[in-house]
Amino acid sequence: MREKSAICIAGGGSTFTPGIVLMLLENQDRFPISRITLYDNNKERQDKLAEACAIMMKEKAPEIEFNWTTDPVTAFTGIDFVFAHIRVGLYAMRELDEKIPLKYGVVGQETCGPGGMAYGMRSIGPVIEIADYMEKYSPQAWLLNYSNPAAIVAEATRRLRPGKNIINICDMPVGLETTMAAILTQNTGKTYTRKDMDIRYYGLNHFGWWTSIKDKDGNDLMPELKKHIKEYGYAVNTPDFQHKDPSWQETYTKAKDIYALDTNTIPNTYLKYYLYPDYVVKHSDPNYTRANEVMNGREKKVFGQAEAIVKNGTCEGNEFEVGVHASFIVDLACAIKFNTKERMLLIVPNNGSISNFDPTAMVEIPCLVGSEGPEPLAMGEIPTFQRGLMSEQVCVEKLVVEAWIEHSYNKMWQAITLSKTVPSASVAKQILDDLIEANKDFWPELH
Ligand code: NAD
Ligand code: G6P
Ligand code: MN
Repeated sequence: MREKSAICIAGGGSTFTPGIVLMLLENQDRFPISRITLYDNNKERQDKLAEACAIMMKEKAPEIEFNWTTDPVTAFTGIDFVFAHIRVGLYAMRELDEKIPLKYGVVGQETCGPGGMAYGMRSIGPVIEIADYMEKYSPQAWLLNYSNPAAIVAEATRRLRPGKNIINICDMPVGLETTMAAILTQNTGKTYTRKDMDIRYYGLNHFGWWTSIKDKDGNDLMPELKKHIKEYGYAVNTPDFQHKDPSWQETYTKAKDIYALDTNTIPNTYLKYYLYPDYVVKHSDPNYTRANEVMNGREKKVFGQAEAIVKNGTCEGNEFEVGVHASFIVDLACAIKFNTKERMLLIVPNNGSISNFDPTAMVEIPCLVGSEGPEPLAMGEIPTFQRGLMSEQVCVEKLVVEAWIEHSYNKMWQAITLSKTVPSASVAKQILDDLIEANKDFWPELH
């Protein structure tokens, strides 16, 4: 019988919470659980999802203790893992992150460009606060953070809480690997899953490339994938529900133009914001961005389902959906708890893994994960094109964290100016001044 874990989900009111709870229930054989506690600082929002999850828990796993709270002592005491997915400022602030840069003809995106930097300035403090609650009330526990922008948050945890049990993760690569498996299955007639593939990948979060994808017998799967990506990008009938919306499908298709720039590798979709910003701006509606889509889509759907479950007193007929996101987190927790040494893509200090890149950069690379945490694998030297792009971007991320620590206006201005998505220091300054105004309840005061 495997030892049970107690889990705190920070950001209990997240649209992804029900899927994660459901995924945990479905994996009781490999990752048994004694307790799940939801924690949020927004009682009203969390209550709505928690009441529905409580009904689901009673129906599917009455033996697991389930509770929810806004009190950090209750939430963080006696736990083994914190899964953190908070969104500081909610979708209302995401909407401004996206719309303010667009006013100036600049990419408006949740994690990339000035919008991502604004979100970073909001996320750093509260994520560090969660790390500190964990340290205080359950110092042996692990924080698995996927609160965005993960690249900036990861750099902040490296700078401010080095050596602590904190791992930053992203589901985009596993989402794309699921899609690649679907492409291979469709095009070869043989069935593939993500776990049939051994991959090599390097980059920053939302900024990376696959260099090798092989099956378990060592057969190279890259040629078959490249053939598809060259023509269709990642567009395929994907099992990944999270990225099914039309705007995501457009992003998946655009990957073919990213691929065209370097046909030795296969790219992460997020590179489109850096390599084709003009295209992105032209195809954005400054009055209706992704935040609006999510508020009218995923948020309405998940909260509507929760309401129906509470009203009916049962989750029958209202099953929540589980994303790749959720399975990745269970894999990671399992690897730490049971020392599985599973190979996973995580955001970790470079420390020489990419030999010709800043050792202090937080990079996204394959690691073997065991009970001591991640052991990064050596990815060797990277080509000049990628090194150039990554060097610029990692400095943007570092400057944002420095701006937050030092309350420095100029560092934030430098960060926005340096971003490949921004044309000049004068545009950067206009965007920054608008962002400061919009974020006055969240950012430190810059001077
Ligand atoms: P959401 O707004 O539905 O949920 C976020 C929740 O966090 C809200 O209930 C909010 O009240 C809560 N919150 C905000 N500040 C908090 C604080 N200081 N302490 C405790 N709780 C706090 O957002 P969502 O769309 O479900 O996304 C949640 C997060 O997960 C976002 O950061 C999103 O970017 C991230 N995410 C990351 C990945 C990844 O690949 N890393 C994938 C999916 C989602
Ligand atoms: C991908 C990214 C995440 C991002 C998520 C949701 O999975 O890796 O970092 O938060 O997409 O994006 P959405 O626009 O649907 O909220
Ligand atoms: Mn991500």
